[in-house]
Amino acid sequence: MLHDNVTPYKNNNPKKEQVAQMFDNIANRYDFLNGLLSMGTHKGWRKKCVNLLKTKQPKIILDVATGTGDFAIECAKLDPTKIIGIDISDGMMQFGREKIKKLKLENLITLENGNAETVDFPDNMFDAIVVGFGVRNFQNLEKGLENLYRVLKPNGQLVILEFSYPRNWFIKGLYNFYFSYITPAIGKIFSKDNRAYTYLTESVKAFPNNENFITILNKLKYKNTNFKSLSFGVAAIYYAEK
Ligand SMILES: C[S@@+](CC[C@H](N)C(=O)[O-])C[C@H]1O[C@@H](n2cnc3c(N)ncnc32)[C@H](O)[C@@H]1O
Repeated sequence: MLHDNVTPYKNNNPKKEQVAQMFDNIANRYDFLNGLLSMGTHKGWRKKCVNLLKTKQPKIILDVATGTGDFAIECAKLDPTKIIGIDISDGMMQFGREKIKKLKLENLITLENGNAETVDFPDNMFDAIVVGFGVRNFQNLEKGLENLYRVLKPNGQLVILEFSYPRNWFIKGLYNFYFSYITPAIGKIFSKDNRAYTYLTESVKAFPNNENFITILNKLKYKNTNFKSLSFGVAAIYYAEK
């Protein structure tokens, strides 16, 4: 099945609406479950992404699909002048804003409702764009990536962190077991959303992995593209420049 057609609730509403509803539903448990299900590794993954941006010292950064703001907060270490986080789920951003306030980063980071696919920032605005576990949820992946290209400055950097599907047969076996049984069961208990963590598994499996994702970035004219597998291929960092 084409990844754009994999939706949380399998009803007739557009994917964007279903995704926003799902994240609104699980927002109060998102951070807790992220930590539990990834056994804390997600923090290290975001750090690795931010390290890739260090050399060019980006000043204006966009965090797409910011959710509860963790990637935006990690980007604050780059000493930029402005970070804007956008997301289609106000429920998720509500928790993000609380964290940002606690960390006294309100003057640096602002979160606003925005869809990657229709974002209307001016052309060439951002030095860097990050997307953490977001592209898999886009309604139209290529449209989203095209729009991000438009708002990125020439030579600006795009860093995408996303789950991927491991290749090694042994890891794949463990992965299938974990994502098919453990994740949906724990997700169901804590998030009270029966579909959210089953959708996670389905959407990861249907999503273009590694080289296939790079092929899409190249087709959309991104340059210097490459990827790095993380934690035995469970996730990947994709890097590209405009
Ligand atoms: C798994 S969460 C990731 C949150 C955060 N980036 C992180 O690293 O933890 C995915 C987020 O993507 C958002 N999202 C999905 N499609 C989007 C789109 N087209 N534009 C903006 N945000 C989107 C969802 O609302 C959700 O908050």
